[in-house]
Amino acid sequence: MKILVTGGAGYIGSHTCVELLNSGFEAVVVDNLSNSKTESISRVEKITGKNITFVQGDVRDRECLQTVFKAHDITAVIHFAGLKAVGESCEQPLSYYDNNVYGSIVLAQEMEKANIKKLVFSSSATVYGDPEKLPLTEDMPLSTTNPYGTSKLMVENIYRDLEVADKLKDSNSPWAISLLRYFNPVGAHESGLIGEDPNGIPNNLMPYISQVAVGKLQQLSVFGSDYPTIDGTGVRDYIHVVDLAKGHVKAVQAMLGGLSGVNAINLGTGNGLSVLQLVKAFEEQNEKPVPFKMVARRSGDVAACYADAKKAKALLDWQAELDVNAMVKDSWHWQSKNPNGYE
Ligand code: NAD
Ligand code: WQD
Repeated sequence: MKILVTGGAGYIGSHTCVELLNSGFEAVVVDNLSNSKTESISRVEKITGKNITFVQGDVRDRECLQTVFKAHDITAVIHFAGLKAVGESCEQPLSYYDNNVYGSIVLAQEMEKANIKKLVFSSSATVYGDPEKLPLTEDMPLSTTNPYGTSKLMVENIYRDLEVADKLKDSNSPWAISLLRYFNPVGAHESGLIGEDPNGIPNNLMPYISQVAVGKLQQLSVFGSDYPTIDGTGVRDYIHVVDLAKGHVKAVQAMLGGLSGVNAINLGTGNGLSVLQLVKAFEEQNEKPVPFKMVARRSGDVAACYADAKKAKALLDWQAELDVNAMVKDSWHWQSKNPNGYE
């Protein structure tokens, strides 16, 4: 069974390709390589001993999608392709709406024409905005604070409208759409062959910690020490990327097994960890010091954010299995084996 993976050369996409191939699926990847390299695909092939069909292309390019749908009998699509940097989205909002929203519309239009109606979409916990209550359940109010987050929420709404309209037509092949809301993906495949390869100075905490530990960056700045949390630093639900990748395979399998309609589903562990707890776990597990200093809060950050992960268990029979020690160990393994990423 063939799955189209858009953005499959990227961080989460490459790990998902490993899990798809290991579960007996075939993968066709469409990626424009704007934030990745084909080396990740070669390494997925090395890990799994299986081949991937790679197409360098853009999800906004209809002809590219039509060619792929004609050449391959695609059963379902996992849609990762998009831009993901919050700060950049504030500077270049149109580019984010073009890639993330327009790209997702073109993809759904071409899927509909090809009568492929099973879709997994990469959403984000960012759609919960500044949480009123924790843990976050999928039915809580949604809001966003930056164009990146807005692009994710817009696509969620667009896909809901699409499914409602399709139901009214009483079509005999209903849409099944999983809106997977990721919390904070970290870690890497245990082989150390694939991992996160950010451009320039990382914005996210885990790659920053790893680059301090490897000596590329001098010290970590901890953004805020006066939050109402266990130690004053921000709390997040870090989730191992391999667990996250398995969640995508489970979503495809659930839709093949009859899960239909639009389902928003949190993919998190359900546990919150503070910045200092993550730093300490990294230092202890890897026996590597991570010098840090406390600085002011980063604008736009929330104090704490973690998932209620029960819906994923109920609908997908999925739950996170890897703990924080595996997350920091595998992040460090990838970073130390590939100090310059895929270069
Ligand atoms: P990534 O940048 O590593 O992967 C995205 C891939 O999509 C890249 O390989 C890039 O080259 C490709 N791409 C971008 N625009 C494209 C387009 N128009 N056409 C074809 N390919 C395109 O990012 P990631 O961390 O793997 O994230 C994957 C998805 O998950 C994204 O949609 C992101 O918004 C979402 N997400 C990520 C996180 C996170 O913290 N990493 C959290 C929540 C949601
Ligand atoms: C985590 C914690 C920071 C860097 C972002 C996006 C979100 C999602 C995941 C895509 C916070 C602190 C960080 C540093 C620090 N992406 N921190 N020093 O902000 O929770 O989520 O990535 O959907 O949309 O907003 O993740 O890793 O940037 O930060 O102290 O150098 O680490 O303040 O408390 P965030 P993050």
